[in-house]
Amino acid sequence: KSVVLLISGRGSNMEAIVRAEIPGVRIAAVISNRADAAGLDFAASHGIATAVLDHKAFPSREAFDAALAELIDGYCPDLVVLAGFMRVLSDGFVRHYEGRLLNIHPSLLPSFPGLHTHRRALESGVRIHGATVHFVTPSLDAGPVVIQAAVPVLDDDDESTLAARVLAEEHRIYPQAVKWFVEGRLSIDASGCVRLANAQ
Ligand code: GRF
Repeated sequence: KSVVLLISGRGSNMEAIVRAEIPGVRIAAVISNRADAAGLDFAASHGIATAVLDHKAFPSREAFDAALAELIDGYCPDLVVLAGFMRVLSDGFVRHYEGRLLNIHPSLLPSFPGLHTHRRALESGVRIHGATVHFVTPSLDAGPVVIQAAVPVLDDDDESTLAARVLAEEHRIYPQAVKWFVEGRLSIDASGCVRLANAQ
């Protein structure tokens, strides 16, 4: 299956997916909205096609998203993976990739959608935090959950120690979700819930 990954920065989740060497996965391209995304270097050095589409060069979100979809579709992906892609996507874009667009979010959704999740988790006093892989739907960070991982919040945590503990789990669950998808085991039922079929 052909997979296109979208990044905006460091790209460590993209790297984890590439390094997982999931059977049946061909990473068709890594696309960034920022030319300085560090992850582009990793992708290029692994022989993966890279592309940059600068959102600032477009007059509107819709114009950028249309150009992005055209670029992505040139790679004919079965799956599009948002891996630290820091752009809110328009409804039209999301619908175009319905059922084949995954995102990772650094919290146990539905807790802490949006930004600064680790800071907010610390401020709120929760003792358990984590990460969520979900299908993307038009409402932000609210699509059907595929897999979650929980980590403890420790008394002496700060934002960076908590983020690092969560990130280690992200690197485990995102390749797992991609693997399930390409194995054809993930589906969304009539009530919008994710079903995971048993391995053959
Ligand atoms: C990750 O924590 C991801 O959950 C969030 O942004 C961060 C991206 O990190 N959406 P990386 O670019 O994958 O290293």
